[in-house]
Amino acid sequence: MWSIGSLHLEGRVVLAPMSGYTSAGYRGFMSRFGASACVTEMVSDAAVLRNPSCREEFLDFEPTVPTGLQLYGHDPQTMADAAVKALDINPSIAFIDVNLCCPAKKVVRKGEGSALMADPDLCGRIVESVKDAVDIPVTAKIRLGRDDGSIVFRELICILEDSGADAVAVHVRTAASMYSGRPRYDLVRGLGEDMGIPLVISGNIYSPEDAVAAMECTGAQAVMVARGGIGNPFLLTQINEMLETGSHPGDPMVSQQADWCLELADILFEELGERPAVRRMRSIAPRFVAGCDGCREHRRRLAQGIDDRGSLAAILDDIKEEKGHLEAGFKGRVGIRREDLG
Ligand SMILES: Cc1cc2nc3c(=O)[nH]c(=O)nc-3n(C[C@H](O)[C@H](O)[C@H](O)COP(=O)(O)O)c2cc1C
Repeated sequence: MWSIGSLHLEGRVVLAPMSGYTSAGYRGFMSRFGASACVTEMVSDAAVLRNPSCREEFLDFEPTVPTGLQLYGHDPQTMADAAVKALDINPSIAFIDVNLCCPAKKVVRKGEGSALMADPDLCGRIVESVKDAVDIPVTAKIRLGRDDGSIVFRELICILEDSGADAVAVHVRTAASMYSGRPRYDLVRGLGEDMGIPLVISGNIYSPEDAVAAMECTGAQAVMVARGGIGNPFLLTQINEMLETGSHPGDPMVSQQADWCLELADILFEELGERPAVRRMRSIAPRFVAGCDGCREHRRRLAQGIDDRGSLAAILDDIKEEKGHLEAGFKGRVGIRREDLG
């Protein structure tokens, strides 16, 4: 058991925010596999305050596990106003997560997301302002810095802590390295022990061994699963089990993966409607058979041949018939390497 402020959480896996993926339906699906908490896709303070369609897309959810709303913006007052309005609309939001990490040009150009790491005091004022405005915990998600020449995470975490943050998630890359390049666990060794609030650690968590290595190296309270969970929901279960018992529970069978893939598709078809769900499943479905030997042609069909639920189900049936009895290995995925740990 660990806590984010007044929130007591079971398990050690937080489902990471991922724009374009972690919709309410995706979060509900993943939660069943053992997420102790989830974070929504990022949404701007301006959208919450002024854009009525934001309500349906980002705020209308009934979480099964504690779920944080991730907000981005640069103005302490409008961030606080947005947090209050979001809670009015959806009182089940369990915490507010302030995005100080997004490297996307359209966000950084406005001085938001990772651009804010240039001004740690402003980051602190944003957290303080949101914290004063709501009665639920407030967290922040940061990177190591904007680039290799401006590594500010230690100074920033101290300021966030003083400003009342209840936990900080650190993606162990700089904004300049976006989502590739080695995760710099060597720079955050022991960081959790130096902090007075929980550390949640993010970066290349693709296997239960990665989760153990990340937690041991950093002293984090929990790991964030992001890309590693796409097409591999059982990873959450594996991580929790490995942390509890020390043993690897094994990989699911390909037939099980195919069933989970269709389950997720049904959730997304219902949630997003046919066209957007088809687009999303073309990117997610191949990953359910990513490590399966001889599944290359099936992956191609999943990426290019899904037109509706029927065509997806037919491809998955073919996969089950041909490869269903095999273990769905995820060996091709590179997570944390020894040299990343320093
Ligand atoms: C497609 C995509 C969308 C993302 N969107 C967000 C977001 O909205 N907010 C955020 O804080 N991080 C976002 N992230 C970053 C992830 O939460 C995570 O920190 C990062 O992917 C590192 O973890 P990984 O290497 O295990 O994927 C996104 C990442 C990806 C790949």
